[in-house]
Amino acid sequence: MDRNLALEGVRITEAAALASARLMGRGDRGTADRAATEAMRRALGDLDVEGEVVIGAGEKGEAPMLYVGERVGKAGAGSVAVELALDALEGTRLCATGAANAISVIAMGPKGALLRAPDTYMEKIAVGPDARGAVDLTRPVAANLHAVADALGKYVEDLTVVILDRPRHDRIIREVREAGARIRLIGDGDVSAAINTCLPDTGIDILIGIGGAPEGIISAAALRCMGGDLQGRLRYRNDAERERARAMGIEDMEKVFRIDELARGDVMFAGTGVTNGDFLKGVRFTGDGARTHSVVMRSRTGTVRYIETEHHFPRDHAHSW
Ligand code: FBP
Repeated sequence: MDRNLALEGVRITEAAALASARLMGRGDRGTADRAATEAMRRALGDLDVEGEVVIGAGEKGEAPMLYVGERVGKAGAGSVAVELALDALEGTRLCATGAANAISVIAMGPKGALLRAPDTYMEKIAVGPDARGAVDLTRPVAANLHAVADALGKYVEDLTVVILDRPRHDRIIREVREAGARIRLIGDGDVSAAINTCLPDTGIDILIGIGGAPEGIISAAALRCMGGDLQGRLRYRNDAERERARAMGIEDMEKVFRIDELARGDVMFAGTGVTNGDFLKGVRFTGDGARTHSVVMRSRTGTVRYIETEHHFPRDHAHSW
């Protein structure tokens, strides 16, 4: 991924973050999500690529824009062909309630970089660079915790495990507690949580549990750039989703995908904070505009770049960005 193209990705997540942040705390997930998606769609129109959405706002016919298969970008002579995985507002409930860690995200790579998977669930395990190679989704929770503790040179009791707070995770939560590790339960936002495993300051060592499959693929792109590790196994809700997976080329329904099968080759990731979070500040509105905080990274170089942007827009033109 070209450096400049990666930086352009930030403009796109900034636009989506600005649009949804304005609706923070309204208690309305749908409106904030729509505003983010529309803003992201508009911003993508200026991107000099021949783009195809492979992970988007939903299936064609279900989502009005940024659906899977939609062509985006202002393709011209010399534009590169890319595929995109995006989530204009990751953590719709977090934004609707003003809770931490709502972000706007995009991942890009050349054709064939991102796994094609239906919009279903994924069982995931993610760790940072120091524990890369230490986890295996097919092993019991306790075995993974011990392996990660060994890799990090910590006691299992000092590990912090992030788990989405859902009844489906009761067993995992029990097993983590029995192993003696610490738990941080989160309401939503497992992309942020996966990224946090790669950032020692967040204190997060491992993410375990079932979340969205699209979020799993986007997280894999981010962790590829940061040198972390992630494994995912699709968890279907019904036969229709299984059929869809087959039609998309997935033969083994129980396959554990490695990080480089979820996001392969040369990928980039950009994210902008919508609400304040563990590694990104949320949008802060000022008298004449707003400030955003973003991260952009590329797998080719492993560079992780934080960008603080001042946006100026006249008071009488609320949506001028
Ligand atoms: P949304 O942005 O679509 O609201 O998703 C938030 C999220 O918490 C993801 O981070 C996570 O992967 C998924 O939802 C979990 O799904 P569910 O809420 O159905 O358990």
